[in-house]
Amino acid sequence: MRVALLGGSLRPGSLNAHLLRHLAGQLEARDHGVSVFAGESLRLPLYEDGLAASAEILALHGALLAAQGLVIVSPEYNAGIPGHLKNAVDWLSTLKPSPWPGLPVLLCAASPGAFGGARGLVAWRATLANMGALALPEALTVPHADQQLDAHGAPTDARTASAVPKILDGFLSLAARLRS
Ligand SMILES: Cc1cc2nc3c(=O)[nH]c(=O)nc-3n(C[C@H](O)[C@H](O)[C@H](O)COP(=O)(O)O)c2cc1C
Repeated sequence: MRVALLGGSLRPGSLNAHLLRHLAGQLEARDHGVSVFAGESLRLPLYEDGLAASAEILALHGALLAAQGLVIVSPEYNAGIPGHLKNAVDWLSTLKPSPWPGLPVLLCAASPGAFGGARGLVAWRATLANMGALALPEALTVPHADQQLDAHGAPTDARTASAVPKILDGFLSLAARLRS
């Protein structure tokens, strides 16, 4: 299966980008192909009516069209979606064909806070539903992520470490049923 992963902030030390790369490694270890969009590849022009999509946006669009599922690993900014990720989503929603309808999505978030970015995922669910994407009901959240992720983004606490394979299994099973 081919899975695209999108997320993290633009800062080099992004906890969400570290977690994203860990999840990408876990998917590769299960023999799935991954397309990773994190860090500088998300420094996209702000969406503007009439502005042509850049090569980076077209690459993201192509990867989502080719993928059987998408993993989003999102920071939470003010209980919502960070601007650079919302901008990427908005660009993608303007391109034809839209990659969103029927796309299986796994939502993940990491935050130094106690809620692990869970409130931002509520905003993600509303946006994804509006575009017709199918978010898995379960989500992966990592609270206190500044202490509970190692340098490679692997969870160090038992709860999250055991949650990762279970949630990946659930997501891959949904994606296989919807997009085999
Ligand atoms: C503008 C802004 C708003 C934030 N709002 C929240 C928030 O609502 N909830 C939360 O848990 N953390 C919030 N944070 C803290 C981020 O979760 C923290 O900076 C996190 O490390 C960002 O993700 P990253 O490590 O991938 O860059 C906010 C940070 C910024 C810069």
